[in-house]
Amino acid sequence: MATENIYGENHTIKHILNQKMDFSLFDGSFEGRKADHIRLALEARMQAVGGSGLDQVQLVHEALPDLDFHEISLATRLFGRDLAAPMFVSSMTAGHAGSVNLNVTLARVAESRGWAMGVGSQRRQLFDHTADAEWLEVRKAAPKLILFGNIGLAQLIEASVDDIRRLADSLEAAAMIVHLNPLQECLQPEGTPHYRGGFKALERLVRELKLPVIVKETGCGFSQATLMRLNGLGLAAVDIGGYGGTHWGRIEGGRAGDNEKLKRTAETFRDWGIATTEGLVAAVALRPDYMVWASGGLRSGLDAAKTVAMGATLAGFAKPLIEAALGGEECLDQTMQALEYEFKTALFCTGAKDVAQLREMKAWR
Ligand SMILES: Cc1cc2nc3c(=O)[nH]c(=O)nc-3n(C[C@H](O)[C@H](O)[C@H](O)COP(=O)(O)O)c2cc1C
Repeated sequence: MATENIYGENHTIKHILNQKMDFSLFDGSFEGRKADHIRLALEARMQAVGGSGLDQVQLVHEALPDLDFHEISLATRLFGRDLAAPMFVSSMTAGHAGSVNLNVTLARVAESRGWAMGVGSQRRQLFDHTADAEWLEVRKAAPKLILFGNIGLAQLIEASVDDIRRLADSLEAAAMIVHLNPLQECLQPEGTPHYRGGFKALERLVRELKLPVIVKETGCGFSQATLMRLNGLGLAAVDIGGYGGTHWGRIEGGRAGDNEKLKRTAETFRDWGIATTEGLVAAVALRPDYMVWASGGLRSGLDAAKTVAMGATLAGFAKPLIEAALGGEECLDQTMQALEYEFKTALFCTGAKDVAQLREMKAWR
């Protein structure tokens, strides 16, 4: 299944990291910013390692499961459709020179493994219709994939619902994700920290889009108060996107160059956020009218199983999958297979035959 990735055939992660300056750091362009984000996201110092809280969660071991491993199923339903596993590729990239091949790789493998996938921010498409073409390529590669569109709250406030519908239609999205990233907006030289009217914009979108709407954070998580405010809006899901993995304070700090103000602020806020487990527990305790999805620092199938045992409907991965996708389709497929195998192992060792049973058992502490 070896395919060419955006860097050319046979280029491994190591190779890409060794030739870092293929990505033009700090050149200030849109292309440069997107490339910076991917390159920096792969660096260990950009990760809030251990902060997700998942290391402190244990699933309760069952020494005598009344099951054969092959009976175990990860199958899940989402928006009336089937997924082979309750896992998804979390939103990452879109709208730049490198994103087409990367998204085709992610989409092709996600479809073949029966996962869902979110695309990266479609901001560029709002003002550049030629960017729609990316999704023709992706759809050609993965016609049956359950895809989610993606737009930032600051852009949603400015856009019309018809604009957002066009973004969703361009990729035949099953749902539209609105991402919240207030910290990143403050730390990006190009940031748009304009959130006034955001709640109203969400209300309007849910009312008029006629597609499921999902709200997510991007690595700083949600407080219980915000999760309560989102209840009753009619959202399909809230993706916790908690602290514990990729951290945009750290990444934007890495891009601040000689901007001392942004560099210093990024350093001050390098540990800002609410852990994934804290947000997840708070959300599930509310018994909200939306599904709760978990992401932010999930690094194994066991992590995903923990979040599902805690009440999440779906578990999302970003950094581990972009890293694998840069190694090509085979590398990504192997990574996703391993995540599934770890998840199934967690089911076998808790005595749960499927995802629903794992959730009902609440076998975590
Ligand atoms: C390179 C990269 C680009 C990202 N771009 C977006 C984006 O455009 N929209 C979005 O909602 N989230 C974006 N994210 C955030 C992820 O979807 C996810 O919420 C966050 O990275 C936490 O997951 P992780 O710890 O598994 O990486 C991006 C993440 C990475 C690594």
